[in-house]
Amino acid sequence: MKTKILMVCLGNICRSPLAEGILKSKLDTNRFIIESAGTGHWHVGEIPDKRSIKVAQKYGIDITTQRGRQFTEKDFNEFDIIYVMDIENKKNLLKMAPNDQSQNKIKLILNELFENENVEVPDPYYGTDSDFEHVYKLLDEASTVIAKKISS
Ligand code: 4NP
Repeated sequence: MKTKILMVCLGNICRSPLAEGILKSKLDTNRFIIESAGTGHWHVGEIPDKRSIKVAQKYGIDITTQRGRQFTEKDFNEFDIIYVMDIENKKNLLKMAPNDQSQNKIKLILNELFENENVEVPDPYYGTDSDFEHVYKLLDEASTVIAKKISS
C-alpha cells in the first residue's frame, strides 16, 4: 500500500500546489501519493497561481497539470498524513475531523523543519514574487526533511 500525503492551504492555488510538486519531486511515486487541496472553494478547477507556476519552473518543477480542489471530510479516510500550511488551516480541519484518529493526521508542515515552533508558511496571495520565492524555499527545506524521514 502506498503512503498518501495531502498538502492543504486556503485557496489550493499558491502554497499547497508548490508543496505537492516539491515533495513529489523528492519521493518515489511508486511508494507515495501526494496531492493537495484547499479549505476554501473559490479556486476549484483552476490551475495554480501563475507566480507559483513560475517559481516552481525556476527550480525545474512543473505544477501546471494540477487543478484546485476543496478539502472534504472524506480526505481524512483517504490520506495518512495531512500537512497544513498555517494555523488557520489547522483550525478549520480540526473542526471538520470526525474523530481523534483524523485529528492526529493534521500536522503543521513547518514543524518538520522547526520542531514544535508552530511557524506558518505565509500566505503569498497578496504578495510579490519574492514572497513566492520565500514560500518555495521554506517548502523545499521542509520537504527535504519529510522525504528523508518517511523514505527511511
Ligand atoms: P493559498 O493562497 O492558500 O496559498 O492558495 C490563497 C489563494 C487565494 C486566496 C487566498 C489565499 N483567496 O482569498 O482567494
